[in-house]
Amino acid sequence: MNAQQPSPPPATAAPELQARFAAAGGKPTYVRGMFGRIAGVYDLMNRVMTGGMDRRWRDFAARKVALGPGQIALDIGTGTGDLAIAVARRGAPDSRIIGIDFTPEMLALGEGKLQRLGLTDRIELRQGDGEQLDFPNEHFDACCSAFVVRNLADLRQGFVEMRRVVKPGGRVVCLEMSHPRGALFGAGFHLYFDRLVPLLGKVVGRAFDAYSYLPSSVSAFPDAPALKRVMEDAGWQDVRYYYRMGGIVAVHVGTRAR
Ligand SMILES: C[S@@+](CC[C@H](N)C(=O)[O-])C[C@H]1O[C@@H](n2cnc3c(N)ncnc32)[C@H](O)[C@@H]1O
Repeated sequence: MNAQQPSPPPATAAPELQARFAAAGGKPTYVRGMFGRIAGVYDLMNRVMTGGMDRRWRDFAARKVALGPGQIALDIGTGTGDLAIAVARRGAPDSRIIGIDFTPEMLALGEGKLQRLGLTDRIELRQGDGEQLDFPNEHFDACCSAFVVRNLADLRQGFVEMRRVVKPGGRVVCLEMSHPRGALFGAGFHLYFDRLVPLLGKVVGRAFDAYSYLPSSVSAFPDAPALKRVMEDAGWQDVRYYYRMGGIVAVHVGTRAR
């Protein structure tokens, strides 16, 4: 775990982002529409943008989920299924994952991937809202997400809902974009992320708008210590975080008290 440092309070979304959400009829509608439009290029853009590092980050998160024999996890915002697949590969052979997402276009691509990989017996994809989980209390051994919580309308409430469906002693694992550490590294990263990534999105996916949302949404997102506090405030305990690649992403892990 990294040294805990005081950090500024979480930023709220910039006026420009707020305007986009309002024009779409709210953040969830905006987010769902955006992922519906970019679903076809989503996986390719991940590989291109990160030089393939996104797979390693998901694998790191999957090792924290570490499903034991007979255990079951919920993957929130599963999209095209890459985190669920990583969790299945790192888990016991008879462990299972349910992945939910509110964008049918992403799920359809995920379903095809699971069939090609022969993982349909271990991973089930369902349409659902990550902020209102359609599962009973204390149902899962773990709850995980990758690059999702930044998109939630109410971050704290999202973690409250995850805690509700996880069994006492169970865990939460959250992989999310964070804020690079160090002024020079941060400046270089922002040059790439804020300027080049939207252009890449335009060239690869004809989706400048979606890939300009990405850096804006990260700027408005809490840094790792602040996210830890949000999770603790939502009832998670022993929350730790692990920076990957100089803080470009962070993996937060917490447990539900027994
Ligand atoms: C950046 S993608 C991440 C997909 C996948 N987890 C991965 O690692 O590639 C974010 C996904 O979260 C979904 N999402 C965002 N907010 C959601 C919500 N409130 N309920 C369900 N899905 C949501 C989007 O539809 C999208 O598929």
